[in-house]
Amino acid sequence: MAYRMILNETSYFGAGSIHHLIDEVKKRHFKKALVVTDKDLIQFNVATKVTNLLDEFGLSYDIFDEVIPNPTINIVKKGVEIFKQSGADYLIAIGGGSPQDTAKAIGIIINNPQHADVRSLEGAINTEKPAVPIIAIPTTAGTAAEVTINYVITDEENKRKFVCVDPHDIPVVAIIDSEMMASMPASLKAATGIDALTHAIEGFITKGAWELSDMMHLKAIEIINRALRASVKGDPKGVEDMALGQYVAGMGFSNVGLGLVHGMAHPLGAFYGTPHGVANAVLLPHIMEFNAESTGEKYRDIAKAMGLNDVLNQPIQEVRKHVVEAVKQLNKNVGIPERLRDIGVKEQDIHELAKAAFEDVCTGGNPREVNEKEIEMLYRHVY
Ligand SMILES: NC(=O)c1ccc[n+]([C@@H]2O[C@H](COP(=O)([O-])OP(=O)(O)OC[C@H]3O[C@@H](n4cnc5c(N)ncnc54)[C@H](O)[C@@H]3O)[C@@H](O)[C@H]2O)c1
Ligand SMILES: [Fe+2]
Repeated sequence: MAYRMILNETSYFGAGSIHHLIDEVKKRHFKKALVVTDKDLIQFNVATKVTNLLDEFGLSYDIFDEVIPNPTINIVKKGVEIFKQSGADYLIAIGGGSPQDTAKAIGIIINNPQHADVRSLEGAINTEKPAVPIIAIPTTAGTAAEVTINYVITDEENKRKFVCVDPHDIPVVAIIDSEMMASMPASLKAATGIDALTHAIEGFITKGAWELSDMMHLKAIEIINRALRASVKGDPKGVEDMALGQYVAGMGFSNVGLGLVHGMAHPLGAFYGTPHGVANAVLLPHIMEFNAESTGEKYRDIAKAMGLNDVLNQPIQEVRKHVVEAVKQLNKNVGIPERLRDIGVKEQDIHELAKAAFEDVCTGGNPREVNEKEIEMLYRHVY
């Protein structure tokens, strides 16, 4: 059996690590950046931490700040035009998954213009050329888009969110500076943090998992479980640990895939604009329950990573219940709603949602085989 591992060329970690940006730009002889971000990050002086640094060192850049959560095909197309007009030769992505993913799509299309329609990038495709070099600076903890080979774009016309998997989109440099994340409101820390936990758990039990990815996912579960509550309360050490935990999860899942939680979360983003982390968080414990019987002894490893030492020697059926309960408790502690009805899902859409989830790229990685009818049942169960 042969396995593949793709990671960033260079990554920096820790509070204050953003200053490494300047050396990296100079060392690589980049001339001009297009900074891809969103308006809130400019307004809250998050993106400006980076542009101030560029100003200080006289490095040239333009800004594209029109990204919105669940970024659309039209936003990508606009970004491509702005990149062409700017004469930039590299991208700096500043933000959560939405600006990161938009920058990836822009970078890929600039060097592979036959995909200018954006839709043709869906799924696992091999583009001819690597994206324009991307320096990724995440501001949520999170999607780990800075280390993944994936990006997710919303097709508004067809009410779909589609995943693109392409090794050519991975940022060359990632700077994971928790000071860029500290300004997140508690609810955003909670939602993006449970997104990261979902990556770690789905990546650990997905069909393609193997020993090296297991190592990353178990460590990520441990860090996130330890740090998320503190991070949500505003503890800087908690935020710094979450920055690392989400990255470690990304190193894993990007290389092995995810599962049904993400498959069912994506349609919620497409139909209602549900924040990605919230959609995952509400679904996670229920899908874990559904998957339990197809995961062998793996929930015992998760229990260990979550510090559930008292239950480790119980029969696996019992351990599974405790693990699901611990995830529910974590959700509760950080303020995640319990039901899909609480986050704006409409019962009459469930049939259509199930169709879309069944077709999602992530669903194929789920450890338990699932059909459209079962997905519909699961949506109704969580509703
Ligand atoms: N590429 C991948 O591998 C991958 C993985 C998981 C999810 N995703 C995608 O990423 C997107 C979600 O990204 P996200 O959850 O990081 O959120 P986001 O990028 O959509 O941002 C959500 C909101 O948070 C705000 N925000 C971000 N950082 C902040 C900060 N430091 N302080 C204050 N406000 C801040 C933004 O301005 C925005 O309004 C979804 O489209 C999802 O499908 C991608
Ligand atoms: Fe995710």
